[in-house]
Amino acid sequence: MNKPKVLVTRRWPEAVEAQMAANFDVDLNSADKPLSQDDFRDAMTRYDAILPTVTDKLPATVFAAGTPRTKILANYGVGFAHIDTEAAKSRGIAVTNTPDVLSECTADIAMTLLLMVARRAGEGERELREGRWTGWRPTHLIGTKVSGATLGIIGFGRIGQAMAQRAHFGFGMRIVVQNRSPVPPEVLARYNAIQVPTIEDLLPQADFVSLHCPGGTANRHLINARRLDLMKPSAFLINTARGEVIDEHALAQSLWFGTIAGAGLDVFEREPQVPDALLNADNLVLLPHLGSATRETREAMGFRVLENLTAFFDGRTPRDRVA
Ligand code: DGY
Repeated sequence: MNKPKVLVTRRWPEAVEAQMAANFDVDLNSADKPLSQDDFRDAMTRYDAILPTVTDKLPATVFAAGTPRTKILANYGVGFAHIDTEAAKSRGIAVTNTPDVLSECTADIAMTLLLMVARRAGEGERELREGRWTGWRPTHLIGTKVSGATLGIIGFGRIGQAMAQRAHFGFGMRIVVQNRSPVPPEVLARYNAIQVPTIEDLLPQADFVSLHCPGGTANRHLINARRLDLMKPSAFLINTARGEVIDEHALAQSLWFGTIAGAGLDVFEREPQVPDALLNADNLVLLPHLGSATRETREAMGFRVLENLTAFFDGRTPRDRVA
Protein backbone atom coordinates (compact mmCIF):
# COMPACT_ATOMS: atom_id res chain seq x y z
CA MET A 1 0.00 0.00 0.00
CA ASN A 2 1.23 3.51 -0.82
CA LYS A 3 2.25 5.64 2.13
CA PRO A 4 -0.02 8.65 2.79
CA LYS A 5 1.30 11.84 1.18
CA VAL A 6 2.05 14.45 3.83
CA LEU A 7 3.00 18.14 3.65
CA VAL A 8 4.92 19.76 6.53
CA THR A 9 4.41 23.53 6.19
CA ARG A 10 7.47 24.84 8.11
CA ARG A 11 10.86 23.48 9.20
CA TRP A 12 10.57 21.15 12.19
CA PRO A 13 13.23 19.74 14.55
CA GLU A 14 15.45 17.36 12.58
CA ALA A 15 14.70 14.28 14.67
CA VAL A 16 10.98 14.61 13.95
CA GLU A 17 11.44 15.38 10.26
CA ALA A 18 13.57 12.23 9.93
CA GLN A 19 10.95 10.04 11.61
CA MET A 20 8.17 11.66 9.58
CA ALA A 21 10.08 10.93 6.36
CA ALA A 22 10.57 7.28 7.41
CA ASN A 23 6.85 6.75 8.13
CA PHE A 24 5.17 8.77 5.37
CA ASP A 25 5.67 10.07 1.84
CA VAL A 26 6.64 13.52 3.09
CA ASP A 27 7.33 16.89 1.48
CA LEU A 28 9.32 19.05 3.89
CA ASN A 29 9.65 22.84 3.70
CA SER A 30 13.44 23.08 3.91
CA ALA A 31 13.37 26.78 2.91
CA ASP A 32 10.98 27.42 5.84
CA LYS A 33 9.09 29.94 3.71
CA PRO A 34 5.44 30.40 4.79
CA LEU A 35 2.87 29.05 2.32
CA SER A 36 0.33 31.37 0.65
CA GLN A 37 -3.43 30.79 0.63
CA ASP A 38 -3.09 29.62 -3.00
CA ASP A 39 -0.40 27.14 -1.93
CA PHE A 40 -2.83 25.74 0.65
CA ARG A 41 -5.70 25.49 -1.83
CA ASP A 42 -3.40 23.56 -4.15
CA ALA A 43 -2.03 21.41 -1.30
CA MET A 44 -5.59 20.33 -0.39
CA THR A 45 -5.84 18.64 -3.80
CA ARG A 46 -2.42 16.93 -3.60
CA TYR A 47 -1.82 15.74 -0.03
CA ASP A 48 -3.60 13.27 2.25
CA ALA A 49 -2.42 15.23 5.30
CA ILE A 50 -1.24 18.78 5.85
CA LEU A 51 0.69 19.65 9.03
CA PRO A 52 0.17 23.39 9.59
CA THR A 53 1.15 25.60 12.49
CA VAL A 54 0.22 28.94 14.06
CA THR A 55 1.73 31.00 11.19
CA ASP A 56 -0.56 29.28 8.63
CA LYS A 57 -3.92 30.99 8.26
CA LEU A 58 -6.60 28.54 7.07
CA PRO A 59 -9.89 30.45 6.78
CA ALA A 60 -13.04 29.05 5.11
CA THR A 61 -11.94 30.37 1.67
CA VAL A 62 -9.02 27.93 1.61
CA PHE A 63 -11.47 25.01 1.87
CA ALA A 64 -13.85 26.34 -0.79
CA ALA A 65 -12.91 24.42 -3.92
CA GLY A 66 -14.32 20.93 -4.71
CA THR A 67 -13.68 17.71 -2.80
CA PRO A 68 -10.25 17.85 -1.18
CA ARG A 69 -7.75 14.99 -1.17
CA THR A 70 -6.70 16.12 2.32
CA LYS A 71 -8.28 14.10 5.11
CA ILE A 72 -6.49 15.55 8.14
CA LEU A 73 -4.91 18.82 9.29
CA ALA A 74 -2.55 17.69 12.06
CA ASN A 75 -1.62 21.00 13.65
CA TYR A 76 1.81 21.54 15.22
CA GLY A 77 0.81 23.50 18.34
CA VAL A 78 -1.93 23.54 20.94
CA GLY A 79 -3.76 26.64 19.64
CA PHE A 80 -5.79 26.06 16.47
CA ALA A 81 -7.79 29.29 16.09
CA HIS A 82 -5.91 29.89 12.80
CA ILE A 83 -7.87 26.98 11.28
CA ASP A 84 -11.56 27.35 10.45
CA THR A 85 -12.53 24.02 12.03
CA GLU A 86 -16.18 24.32 10.93
CA ALA A 87 -15.08 24.66 7.29
CA ALA A 88 -12.69 21.73 7.73
CA LYS A 89 -15.46 19.61 9.24
CA SER A 90 -17.85 20.46 6.41
CA ARG A 91 -15.25 19.09 3.95
CA GLY A 92 -14.77 15.92 6.03
CA ILE A 93 -11.29 16.97 7.18
CA ALA A 94 -10.22 16.04 10.72
CA VAL A 95 -8.16 18.48 12.83
CA THR A 96 -5.76 17.59 15.66
CA ASN A 97 -3.48 19.67 17.94
CA THR A 98 -0.61 19.03 20.39
CA PRO A 99 -1.71 19.76 23.98
CA ASP A 100 0.11 18.82 27.23
CA VAL A 101 3.65 18.68 25.89
CA LEU A 102 4.12 22.46 25.85
CA SER A 103 2.34 23.43 29.07
CA GLU A 104 5.45 23.58 31.26
CA CYS A 105 7.63 25.56 28.85
CA THR A 106 4.82 28.01 28.08
CA ALA A 107 4.25 28.58 31.81
CA ASP A 108 8.01 29.07 32.19
CA ILE A 109 7.88 31.88 29.61
CA ALA A 110 4.87 33.46 31.35
CA MET A 111 6.83 33.39 34.63
CA THR A 112 9.88 34.79 32.82
CA LEU A 113 7.82 37.74 31.55
CA LEU A 114 6.21 38.25 34.95
CA LEU A 115 9.58 38.38 36.72
CA MET A 116 11.21 40.49 34.03
CA VAL A 117 8.55 43.18 34.03
CA ALA A 118 8.14 43.23 37.83
CA ARG A 119 11.90 43.54 38.39
CA ARG A 120 12.49 45.82 35.39
CA ALA A 121 14.98 43.36 33.86
CA GLY A 122 14.44 44.56 30.28
CA GLU A 123 15.01 48.20 31.24
CA GLY A 124 18.09 47.24 33.26
CA GLU A 125 19.61 45.21 30.45
CA ARG A 126 19.04 47.98 27.92
CA GLU A 127 20.63 50.52 30.26
CA LEU A 128 23.68 48.34 30.88
CA ARG A 129 24.29 47.37 27.23
CA GLU A 130 23.92 50.99 26.13
CA GLY A 131 26.59 52.11 28.61
CA ARG A 132 24.15 54.19 30.66
CA TRP A 133 24.68 52.38 34.01
CA THR A 134 26.27 54.73 36.56
CA GLY A 135 26.50 52.18 39.39
CA TRP A 136 24.53 50.92 42.40
CA ARG A 137 22.28 53.32 44.26
CA PRO A 138 19.36 52.79 46.65
CA THR A 139 16.80 54.29 44.26
CA HIS A 140 17.94 52.63 41.03
CA LEU A 141 15.33 50.79 38.89
CA ILE A 142 13.05 49.98 41.79
CA GLY A 143 10.64 47.20 40.89
CA THR A 144 7.75 45.30 42.46
CA LYS A 145 8.05 42.31 44.81
CA VAL A 146 6.65 39.12 43.28
CA SER A 147 6.77 36.76 46.27
CA GLY A 148 3.49 36.72 48.17
CA ALA A 149 1.62 38.87 45.61
CA THR A 150 -1.78 37.92 44.13
CA LEU A 151 -1.80 36.32 40.68
CA GLY A 152 -5.02 36.36 38.66
CA ILE A 153 -5.13 33.60 36.04
CA ILE A 154 -7.67 33.87 33.21
CA GLY A 155 -8.18 30.40 31.68
CA PHE A 156 -7.37 27.53 34.03
CA GLY A 157 -6.55 24.70 31.64
CA ARG A 158 -3.24 22.87 31.53
CA ILE A 159 -1.05 25.93 30.94
CA GLY A 160 -2.92 28.05 33.50
CA GLN A 161 -2.43 25.30 36.07
CA ALA A 162 1.28 24.99 35.23
CA MET A 163 1.54 28.75 35.86
CA ALA A 164 -0.27 28.39 39.20
CA GLN A 165 2.14 25.60 40.15
CA ARG A 166 5.15 27.85 39.58
CA ALA A 167 3.61 30.93 41.19
CA HIS A 168 2.18 29.20 44.26
CA PHE A 169 4.98 26.77 45.10
CA GLY A 170 7.89 28.84 43.79
CA PHE A 171 6.85 32.32 44.86
CA GLY A 172 4.18 31.82 47.54
CA MET A 173 1.68 33.75 45.42
CA ARG A 174 -2.03 33.82 46.19
CA ILE A 175 -3.92 32.40 43.18
CA VAL A 176 -7.29 33.67 41.93
CA VAL A 177 -8.69 32.11 38.76
CA GLN A 178 -11.43 32.81 36.24
CA ASN A 179 -12.43 30.02 33.88
CA ARG A 180 -15.35 29.38 31.51
CA SER A 181 -16.44 26.29 33.43
CA PRO A 182 -16.21 25.41 37.12
CA VAL A 183 -12.77 24.10 38.09
CA PRO A 184 -12.94 20.88 40.17
CA PRO A 185 -12.39 21.70 43.88
CA GLU A 186 -9.44 19.27 44.14
CA VAL A 187 -7.65 21.13 41.31
CA LEU A 188 -8.18 24.50 43.02
CA ALA A 189 -7.07 22.99 46.35
CA ARG A 190 -3.77 21.86 44.80
CA TYR A 191 -2.73 25.53 44.47
CA ASN A 192 -4.84 26.89 47.33
CA ALA A 193 -6.63 28.83 44.56
CA ILE A 194 -10.05 30.43 44.55
CA GLN A 195 -12.26 30.69 41.46
CA VAL A 196 -14.23 33.88 40.83
CA PRO A 197 -17.23 33.99 38.45
CA THR A 198 -16.13 36.81 36.12
CA ILE A 199 -13.09 38.63 34.78
CA GLU A 200 -14.56 41.76 36.41
CA ASP A 201 -14.26 40.02 39.79
CA LEU A 202 -10.67 38.98 39.16
CA LEU A 203 -9.02 42.11 37.76
CA PRO A 204 -9.37 44.54 40.71
CA GLN A 205 -7.79 42.12 43.18
CA ALA A 206 -4.79 40.93 41.15
CA ASP A 207 -1.24 42.29 41.35
CA PHE A 208 -0.43 40.26 38.23
CA VAL A 209 -2.88 39.00 35.60
CA SER A 210 -1.77 36.14 33.34
CA LEU A 211 -3.80 35.11 30.28
CA HIS A 212 -4.10 31.39 29.49
CA CYS A 213 -7.38 31.23 27.54
CA PRO A 214 -7.75 30.25 23.86
CA GLY A 215 -7.59 32.85 21.08
CA GLY A 216 -9.95 33.17 18.12
CA THR A 217 -12.96 35.36 17.51
CA ALA A 218 -14.72 34.38 20.74
CA ASN A 219 -11.94 35.87 22.88
CA ARG A 220 -10.86 38.72 20.57
CA HIS A 221 -10.13 41.81 22.70
CA LEU A 222 -11.28 40.04 25.86
CA ILE A 223 -8.93 42.47 27.58
CA ASN A 224 -10.15 45.84 26.34
CA ALA A 225 -9.97 49.44 27.62
CA ARG A 226 -12.82 48.92 30.08
CA ARG A 227 -11.24 45.84 31.62
CA LEU A 228 -7.75 47.38 31.70
CA ASP A 229 -9.32 50.19 33.75
CA LEU A 230 -10.41 47.59 36.31
CA MET A 231 -6.80 46.59 37.00
CA LYS A 232 -4.87 48.20 39.86
CA PRO A 233 -2.52 51.01 38.73
CA SER A 234 0.25 48.93 40.33
CA ALA A 235 -0.66 45.71 38.45
CA PHE A 236 0.99 43.93 35.52
CA LEU A 237 -0.56 42.05 32.59
CA ILE A 238 1.10 38.96 31.07
CA ASN A 239 0.06 37.35 27.78
CA THR A 240 1.44 34.04 26.48
CA ALA A 241 -1.94 32.93 25.03
CA ARG A 242 -2.81 34.63 21.75
CA GLY A 243 -2.26 38.23 20.64
CA GLU A 244 -5.87 38.89 19.69
CA VAL A 245 -6.99 38.38 23.30
CA ILE A 246 -5.71 41.91 24.11
CA ASP A 247 -6.76 45.15 22.39
CA GLU A 248 -3.19 46.32 21.74
CA HIS A 249 -4.20 49.94 21.20
CA ALA A 250 -5.97 50.03 24.57
CA LEU A 251 -2.99 48.33 26.24
CA ALA A 252 -0.57 50.88 24.77
CA GLN A 253 -2.74 53.68 26.18
CA SER A 254 -2.76 52.06 29.63
CA LEU A 255 1.02 51.65 29.57
CA TRP A 256 1.67 55.19 28.37
CA PHE A 257 -0.79 56.81 30.79
CA GLY A 258 0.28 54.55 33.67
CA THR A 259 -3.18 53.19 34.43
CA ILE A 260 -1.39 49.84 34.86
CA ALA A 261 2.26 49.40 35.91
CA GLY A 262 3.48 47.26 33.05
CA ALA A 263 3.02 44.22 30.82
CA GLY A 264 4.84 41.24 29.37
CA LEU A 265 3.84 39.93 25.95
CA ASP A 266 4.96 36.83 24.05
CA VAL A 267 2.18 37.01 21.44
CA PHE A 268 0.76 39.76 19.23
CA GLU A 269 -2.35 40.33 17.17
CA ARG A 270 -0.56 40.71 13.81
CA GLU A 271 2.64 38.69 14.26
CA PRO A 272 5.39 39.42 13.39
CA GLN A 273 4.24 43.06 13.39
CA VAL A 274 4.31 44.89 16.71
CA PRO A 275 2.81 48.41 16.94
CA ASP A 276 5.31 51.24 17.58
CA ALA A 277 3.31 52.35 20.61
CA LEU A 278 4.19 49.00 22.21
CA LEU A 279 7.79 48.88 20.95
CA ASN A 280 8.42 52.27 22.55
CA ALA A 281 6.84 51.51 25.93
CA ASP A 282 9.58 51.06 28.53
CA ASN A 283 7.30 49.33 31.04
CA LEU A 284 6.68 46.47 28.62
CA VAL A 285 8.71 43.29 28.08
CA LEU A 286 8.40 41.81 24.59
CA LEU A 287 9.33 38.32 23.39
CA PRO A 288 8.90 36.89 19.85
CA HIS A 289 6.39 34.06 20.55
CA LEU A 290 8.84 31.82 22.42
CA GLY A 291 6.38 29.99 24.71
CA SER A 292 7.09 26.48 23.47
CA ALA A 293 10.56 27.20 22.09
CA THR A 294 12.76 24.61 23.79
CA ARG A 295 14.38 21.67 21.99
CA GLU A 296 12.58 19.20 24.24
CA THR A 297 9.14 20.72 23.71
CA ARG A 298 9.42 21.40 19.99
CA GLU A 299 10.48 17.77 19.46
CA ALA A 300 7.67 16.52 21.70
CA MET A 301 5.17 18.60 19.70
CA GLY A 302 6.40 17.03 16.47
CA PHE A 303 6.26 13.49 17.84
CA ARG A 304 2.74 14.19 19.11
CA VAL A 305 1.71 15.18 15.54
CA LEU A 306 3.31 11.95 14.31
CA GLU A 307 1.30 9.97 16.88
CA ASN A 308 -1.94 11.67 15.77
CA LEU A 309 -1.20 11.02 12.10
CA THR A 310 -0.28 7.39 12.66
CA ALA A 311 -3.50 6.77 14.59
CA PHE A 312 -5.56 8.49 11.89
CA PHE A 313 -4.10 6.51 9.00
CA ASP A 314 -4.37 3.27 11.04
CA GLY A 315 -8.11 3.93 11.25
CA ARG A 316 -8.09 4.89 14.96
CA THR A 317 -9.31 8.17 16.50
CA PRO A 318 -6.28 10.40 17.12
CA ARG A 319 -5.99 11.24 20.83
CA ASP A 320 -5.86 15.00 20.11
CA ARG A 321 -8.72 15.26 17.64
CA VAL A 322 -10.38 18.68 18.04
CA ALA A 323 -12.66 18.59 14.96
C1 DGY B 1 0.89 26.84 20.35
O1 DGY B 1 1.18 25.67 20.54
O2 DGY B 1 -0.26 27.19 20.15
C2 DGY B 1 2.02 27.82 20.37
O3 DGY B 1 1.59 29.12 20.45
C3 DGY B 1 2.89 27.65 19.17
O4 DGY B 1 2.12 27.38 18.09
